[in-house]
Amino acid sequence: MPPRSRRRKALGTGLAAALLTGALAAFPASAAPASAPAIAPAAHTTAAPDIPVANVRAHLDALNSIAAANGGNRAHGRPGYRASVDYVKKRLDDAGFRTTVQTFTANGATGYNLIADWPGASDRVLMAGAHLDSVTRGAGINDNASGSAAVLETALAVSRENLKPDKTLRFAWWGAEELGLVGSRHYVNTLPRTELNRVTGYLNFDMIGSINAGYFVYNDNPALEKVFTQWFADRGVPTEPATETSGRSDHASFQRVGVPVGGLFTGAGRTKTAAQARKWGGQAGRSFDPCYHSACDGTSNINTTALDRNSDALAHAVWTLSAD
Ligand code: TRP
Ligand code: CA
Ligand code: ZN
Repeated sequence: MPPRSRRRKALGTGLAAALLTGALAAFPASAAPASAPAIAPAAHTTAAPDIPVANVRAHLDALNSIAAANGGNRAHGRPGYRASVDYVKKRLDDAGFRTTVQTFTANGATGYNLIADWPGASDRVLMAGAHLDSVTRGAGINDNASGSAAVLETALAVSRENLKPDKTLRFAWWGAEELGLVGSRHYVNTLPRTELNRVTGYLNFDMIGSINAGYFVYNDNPALEKVFTQWFADRGVPTEPATETSGRSDHASFQRVGVPVGGLFTGAGRTKTAAQARKWGGQAGRSFDPCYHSACDGTSNINTTALDRNSDALAHAVWTLSAD
């Protein structure tokens, strides 16, 4: 791994991205250089716990109730969004996270990002995030209470297990994604360069419980991609590279400033092909999420198996990548 001074000096350049990517590539044993130990020996690199999907679903129910009590949505600038932030923040505060609410302005309304830190031993940071806002039409349960709930439950698992990570773990819930990635762009644009340089990777979870699910893994960074594809392969679940994801969610804000990105996606408005239905089940010729951006994106618009697998894969990636 390059010394910190070299990484810092190079940040903001194409070389910086290459160095960060190179550092990340050292994680999977199969990609480790000859000089690195074949297996990370640190005591805390235990396997991630199983994430109870019932807990994830309970967060979906809570966010759905928040929408119902606030005009049927959790959109930017509406009371249901602020109530969603308050719900997630309360659980994190009770679990011992250091939380921050960052405000910004979009379309004349105040927006909020929620950030939660779990301190690590080194100066490096691993981030995982999801957008918490919905569109104005519907409660936004697959889009994107699903990613928000899985990131929350993973953070709560870190606290329950009292994980002592090498890297600081930083969980994020973005505002105003549906207006064009506004919250995440505000975050990367206002974070000091020295702070941004500490971020070794950003993992994004936007729609991970699609009712007619596919299993798509972001293919922007080979090392981060491998952590996910290996997890699914070990369980006999085929995956495809997430070609629909490019620029479509908050990872693009991080990619733009040179941070390596990864993530998971179970599909939105596109149609599942016959070949995809053969390997994943579900219905060919139908959208992955027929309720995408619609009023019917409620708690019955969730594939619990997909939500469970993606939540467990998320936790696996956080545990694995938390080790320096
Ligand atoms: N971000 C989109 C939204 O919130 C959903 C979406 C469409 C998406 N295509 C994607 C998310 C690809 C991740 C990857 O409306
Ligand atoms: Ca599980
Ligand atoms: Zn959306």
